[in-house]
Amino acid sequence: MSELKGLILSGGRGTRLRPITHTSAKQLVPVANEPVLFYGIRSMVAAGVTDIGIILNPETGGEIREVTGDGSRFGDGVSITYIEQASPDGLAHAVLTAEPFLGDSPFVMYLGDNLLQGGITGLVREFREKEPAAMILLQPVEDPRSYGVAELTDGRVTRLVEKPAEPKSDLALVGVYLFTPRILEAAKAIEPSPRGELEITDAIQWVVDQGDRVEPHVVHGWWKDTGKLVDMLEANRLILDTIERRVEGTIDEGSEVSGRVVIEPGATIERSVVRGPVVIGADAVIRDSYVGPYSSIAAGGVVERSEVEHSILLERAQLIGLEGRIESSLLGRDVTVRRGERTPRAYRFMVGDNSEIEIL
Ligand code: DAU
Repeated sequence: MSELKGLILSGGRGTRLRPITHTSAKQLVPVANEPVLFYGIRSMVAAGVTDIGIILNPETGGEIREVTGDGSRFGDGVSITYIEQASPDGLAHAVLTAEPFLGDSPFVMYLGDNLLQGGITGLVREFREKEPAAMILLQPVEDPRSYGVAELTDGRVTRLVEKPAEPKSDLALVGVYLFTPRILEAAKAIEPSPRGELEITDAIQWVVDQGDRVEPHVVHGWWKDTGKLVDMLEANRLILDTIERRVEGTIDEGSEVSGRVVIEPGATIERSVVRGPVVIGADAVIRDSYVGPYSSIAAGGVVERSEVEHSILLERAQLIGLEGRIESSLLGRDVTVRRGERTPRAYRFMVGDNSEIEIL
């Protein structure tokens, strides 16, 4: 089998993560202070896949290019080619857009908002050994209606349906696929779905219908599609559970920092309690506060006279003087949530489109 290429899909609209995605791509939302997208790139590189194409939406693609670069930050010989998809017309449409990059190579496709524990090295090996027309990854889920769903008969893939109202199995399609160029033929042969997209699920069904072998692989480690807030927080929790302690910032004598924490250079912790797993980005300030498990505070964040846990703060977000504890929250870049000095006490908001505030 010729050299495997990589294709990461980072176009799309990200409507379920608004308002964050009004100004940035969902694949750049950080998990443990690193863009989701980087985990996919790293797992490809670890599996020896170094010629990687990234599909972009022209509106949010500029920032992805800027942050991700030419690939050199991921290792020697890693090369990234950016491919603009004029409009988000579906995953199979994205594959067709990438045809000039893919040529006649087999490839591994990774949805840029997916996270898969354990990487893809074993999967790439299995694909090379078995040489099927395609290999799909599956995982049983509680509610399969928001995923592609596969039906197996005697261990063979027989039917694939995208987001069925009445799923016939609980096996969801994980957003990592291994393909031969057969999928390009399939993508050309299928019609758009009722939601107007060229579905990769339908393209794989076409391959099955041609009588070609589609290899199913059930994934046992965790897998997350980070397209929604709850899943994003869960992904953050799972990744933070794997970090090693590293403290490069400054902790004063009045603070207590316990467990697995990463405190980046320039960060300062003053008169505070930090209980890992937690990451605190460069130049962040934690003062007279409590930062509890499963929190990721990005560079330049400020937590002052406040308590936060199980939350993600993006760059320079600030929490100041709040009474209750902030939990299960995602704060965008440069967001400030602050208790004012004046009485009478009241809530005062200036909140962007599609924001959500819940006072518990
Ligand atoms: O997460 C797994 C699921 O991903 C699978 O179970 C489904 O079968 C598959 O269709 C997909 O469903 P989603 O509705 O979650 O796909 P989403 O629209 O979120 O797009 C997935 C990624 O692909 C995301 O990073 C955006 C990117 N994308 C999406 C479209 C529609 C593109 O690059 N171009 C596109 O046209």
